[in-house]
Amino acid sequence: MKLYIGVDLGTSAVKLLLMDELGEIKNVVSKEYPLEFPQPGWSQQAPEDWRKAVLEGIPELLQGFNGADVVGIGCGGQMHGMVILDKDDNVIRPAILWNDGRTAKQVDYLNNVITKEKLAEMTANIAFAGFTAPKVLWVKENEPENFAKIEKLMLPKDYVNYILTGVHACDYSDASGMLLLDVEHKCWSKEMLTICGMTEAQMPKLFESFECIGTVKPEIAKLLGISENVKVAAGAGDNAAAAVGTGVVGEGGCNISLGTSGTVFISSKSFSKLDNNAIHNFDHADGGYHLMGCMLSAASCNKWLMDDILQTKDYAAEQVPITDDKLGENHVYFLPYLMGERSPINDTNARGTFIGMTMDTTRADLVQAVLEGVAFAIRDSVEVARSLGVVINSSKICGGGAKSPLWKKIIANVLNAKLESPVSEQGPGMGGAMLAMVACGEYASVQEVCDKFVKVASVVEPEPELVAKYEKRYQQFKAIYPACKALFADFVKE
Ligand code: XUL
Repeated sequence: MKLYIGVDLGTSAVKLLLMDELGEIKNVVSKEYPLEFPQPGWSQQAPEDWRKAVLEGIPELLQGFNGADVVGIGCGGQMHGMVILDKDDNVIRPAILWNDGRTAKQVDYLNNVITKEKLAEMTANIAFAGFTAPKVLWVKENEPENFAKIEKLMLPKDYVNYILTGVHACDYSDASGMLLLDVEHKCWSKEMLTICGMTEAQMPKLFESFECIGTVKPEIAKLLGISENVKVAAGAGDNAAAAVGTGVVGEGGCNISLGTSGTVFISSKSFSKLDNNAIHNFDHADGGYHLMGCMLSAASCNKWLMDDILQTKDYAAEQVPITDDKLGENHVYFLPYLMGERSPINDTNARGTFIGMTMDTTRADLVQAVLEGVAFAIRDSVEVARSLGVVINSSKICGGGAKSPLWKKIIANVLNAKLESPVSEQGPGMGGAMLAMVACGEYASVQEVCDKFVKVASVVEPEPELVAKYEKRYQQFKAIYPACKALFADFVKE
């Protein structure tokens, strides 16, 4: 038996998955780590915690298996996080994460002084607060002593790959989210690096996601109980890895990931020049390209309501009173902007909001409003893609939120699209292991391994009557943010 390890380096935990060469998942281990919110809307994490979680998690994952059977490792990681290393490869400061909103000023400079047109010309994208380049500018302005020490800039999963192999590498899908890559031509943009005060020597070497960046360092191999011949794939941003895990590669596939963030991912064989950069234009892990809308708080809105507000761990029990007759009938709306919002509104000031409550509003109405608010916000990105001519009549769906049949039903009807759930909802981990298989030569291409492994387990079809009800509700939802926008900006000024 040959074994592959897929790593999903998430925001709340790393999920490790052990897979054999036939695609059977043999074991799964999850290790949580803390997330720091030093100020409202700021979000950071210690790369040291990722290192510890991966190095402790792999031996646990391999318990009961023969470590010598492991041949490859591939990682899908949270995107955009800024990891900076000094001349001795020590981490300079906590990583500023994808959902951090501290860079409003730098985003404004990039989009309005450098201009969106110029950014799109250099990188195929415009600036969003979570992207890496505005964070580099933030450190340059606010922590000049840290900026002066930067010897290497990399992304979260690249730090894990560096710990495993000693190689400073990055793949094109993840690098796309730095706003420092020329996405179309797959090389660092020298002009963008100069704008950020960086040089190419400070950047990791670029690879395709399915290429091998090196083998595991002997001392790490010993610690993990695996061979030093184990190959490490370049890996991918978690959304591209999830798309591989759900078989969304090649032309025109769609995947919705309902994790801490919520993303709509559309794969394509060729690069598209966009007039509207409200959604992202990135490279894909299969060697092609993709468009993506990303909302910052998706399953995390439900987690917040359950864990912090209602203080329950039984998420399913809270959904039991939301019977079919309640769908499309809720008068309560929720804006899911608990960390500000990325796609498509690009507003770090936006905030979470319940609106429309009356004396007969129940606890279940609020739970329903949160599930629906996330679905409506996903539709906002889907509508941008549709306005670009992308047809979205069906999509794969993965991520922790996709475990809820009710949530999938709401999303299918809000989007008027068929939703297909693969056998495993572990998108990024699956994708990571599959990329490792290609890197090790087990399969010739990402497409081939997807054709072989990805199986649909269940399908949710939209129902015309419910689609019509939700269409009305969506139009009402759409009016709420514009009405609150100026207020949100005022709240932040206080
Ligand atoms: C994508 C994004 C998020 C993170 C979550 O642009 O920021 O989906 O990758 O881990």
